Amino acid sequence: MALLKIARMGHPVLAHPAEPVANPADPEVQRLAASMVETMIDADGVGLAAPQVYESRRIIVFEIDSERAEAEELPAPQETTVLINPEIEVLDPTEVEGIEGCLSIPGLVGLVPRFRAIRYRGLALDGAPVESEAEDFLARVIQHEVDHLNGILFTQRMRDMSKLVFQDELRHLTAAAAEDTSSA
Ligand code: NI
Repeated sequence: MALLKIARMGHPVLAHPAEPVANPADPEVQRLAASMVETMIDADGVGLAAPQVYESRRIIVFEIDSERAEAEELPAPQETTVLINPEIEVLDPTEVEGIEGCLSIPGLVGLVPRFRAIRYRGLALDGAPVESEAEDFLARVIQHEVDHLNGILFTQRMRDMSKLVFQDELRHLTAAAAEDTSSA
């Protein structure tokens, strides 16, 4: 495992759709996923997509530790999850606006609409199918990461660019919008 450099907004790797992974059992895929998890944790993120570490492949990782789960008032933490070739199905099309950050856009956060509830599918690192549901904060994280696989950054989802602010100035946004400042 190794800490990986994180690509920043403007690098083309973040702007193009990523390639599906043919073989999750490939040792190179295993190493990449392990390093992505290490990099996400080191950067204090809740999610990371392979294009963010210059690998244009359809792999995402996410994790919500107990401390963050408590801060976000989630029912439970989310264990470290690696999802290969993930797909999303919208379960509740209600759009909820929340504050997002991104490790590829350091220092900035913005108000982003996301679907409230989704089902996600993909493959685990052992190739086994994964299928689960996510709501609210976790649904937001997964939508953010899958967007990365399609070359989309959270800024492109925003409806009001006046709500793109430096994290240090976040307190000036409405209290309701200031609940969540996680980077993914
Ligand atoms: Ni991101």
